[in-house]
Amino acid sequence: MYVFTPKDPLLLSKTLRAHSHIHGLGLDDNLEARQSGQGMVGQIKARRAAGVMLKMIQDGNKNAGRAILMAGAPGTGKTAIAMGMAQSLGADVPFTMLAASEIFSLEMGKTEALTQAFRRSIGVRIKEESEIIEGEVVEIQIDRSTTGLGQKSGKLTLKTTEMETIYDLGVKMIEALNKEKVMAGDVIMIDKASGRISKLGRSFTRARDYDAMGSDTKFVQCPDGELQKRKEVVHTVSLHEMDVINSRSQGFLALFSGDTGEIKSEVREQINQKVGEWREEGKAEIVPGVLFIDEVHVLDIECFSFLNRALEDPLAPVVIMASNRGISKIRGTNYKSPHGLPVDLLDRLLIISTTAYSEQEIKQILTIRCEEEDVQMTEDAKDILTRIGMETSLRYAIHLITVSSFVAKKRKAIMVDVPDIKRVYSLFLDEKRSVQMLKEYQGQYMYNEVDTADREPAIGNGHGMQ
Ligand SMILES: Nc1ncnc2c1ncn2[C@@H]1O[C@H](COP(=O)(O)OP(=O)(O)OP(=O)(O)O)[C@@H](O)[C@H]1O
Ligand SMILES: [Mg+2]
Repeated sequence: MYVFTPKDPLLLSKTLRAHSHIHGLGLDDNLEARQSGQGMVGQIKARRAAGVMLKMIQDGNKNAGRAILMAGAPGTGKTAIAMGMAQSLGADVPFTMLAASEIFSLEMGKTEALTQAFRRSIGVRIKEESEIIEGEVVEIQIDRSTTGLGQKSGKLTLKTTEMETIYDLGVKMIEALNKEKVMAGDVIMIDKASGRISKLGRSFTRARDYDAMGSDTKFVQCPDGELQKRKEVVHTVSLHEMDVINSRSQGFLALFSGDTGEIKSEVREQINQKVGEWREEGKAEIVPGVLFIDEVHVLDIECFSFLNRALEDPLAPVVIMASNRGISKIRGTNYKSPHGLPVDLLDRLLIISTTAYSEQEIKQILTIRCEEEDVQMTEDAKDILTRIGMETSLRYAIHLITVSSFVAKKRKAIMVDVPDIKRVYSLFLDEKRSVQMLKEYQGQYMYNEVDTADREPAIGNGHGMQ
């Protein structure tokens, strides 16, 4: 399970390489989808629908508990759209992405894993008043005992435009000042309760003395008024984080190791009660976020009935699911159902369907991917790759970009050209050709038990729903 913060480097690199070219949904102010924007191409209807959901989430989101299913053939951009949504959410709206199969591999019960995913996706925005000291540093004076042993002590002089005060410094504060590399002329903020020091910038009055400072130096006004102030700070934590911190057997360290184990239901009840009280007192607000369950058809009947219930909880996030199945078996039963989901769950969902791309759209997506991967490709090569994308799959064509650029580099060419594409097309099979090969040579493989009736059809593969 992975929880995103929008500026998370992981969001842009490692885990999501396949979608690293996507930076949002590419909508204009009226929520209309641009043909191409923020890395997204086509799939206009689905993007617009996702945009409406996004708007609802951002606007006070009284509609928590809504659930959407994105249904469409493989490679039609379901996961990509969810990634686009994640990137357009505000900084403190939680987005949790869960590949349904993870539920079965965690060291905890399935419903516990789902509960945790739900609670990770609900933020609590807490307002706190804290006492701070804010001022410009006039002087820092640190006394070391001559032996070099013993406690350090010192004095810090801070001023505002109206007053100046000298504070005694203890060892901890000296360390904190050193760590932040605070110097005379810096404007700093000290949180009185935690002793945390943050540098706000350099005072404008010092702008001229420090020509030599880097151009990234931020200049700020010297604060006015009292040095000590009360300031309202707002921070958002998820219900799950609160559960973990308050679960005596875990402690907050578990948050870092990710090894949270199962959490007792009493702990959750306590947290819900506390949050309820804070809401009444106006100290906290609930921020329903988004839980994205990819490949949802992999869940089984127990998980589905859990989802039915969980979606009705007053503290439910917006749940987005994706399935590429047509009419197929519901896991854990012998029944078949559309998208591999039970009908009573489907009844609670709004369905967004994604459709196949046109040739032009495939070309556009491939062009964007080439830019993303820093691959230069001739127009002819792009045309061939587009044809391959149309006839096999978009994903396969995207994969060929990387390998063909490798092949081009081998022959010391700057641009990928038609022969490179041909070469990798013959080296690496797509699904259809691989199946073809299997049929031709099946006798030579081990455990050959082909029973085509058993195969779960994906949408658009000819067997499924269209
Ligand atoms: N509209 C689009 N614009 C830009 N890139 C896209 C678009 N649709 C898909 N892609 C890219 O194509 C690849 C396949 O799409 P994606 O993974 O979203 O398919 P999917 O619908 O989730 O398929 P599956 O059902 O197999 O999971 C990804 O690299 C994705 O980023
Ligand atoms: Mg997907």
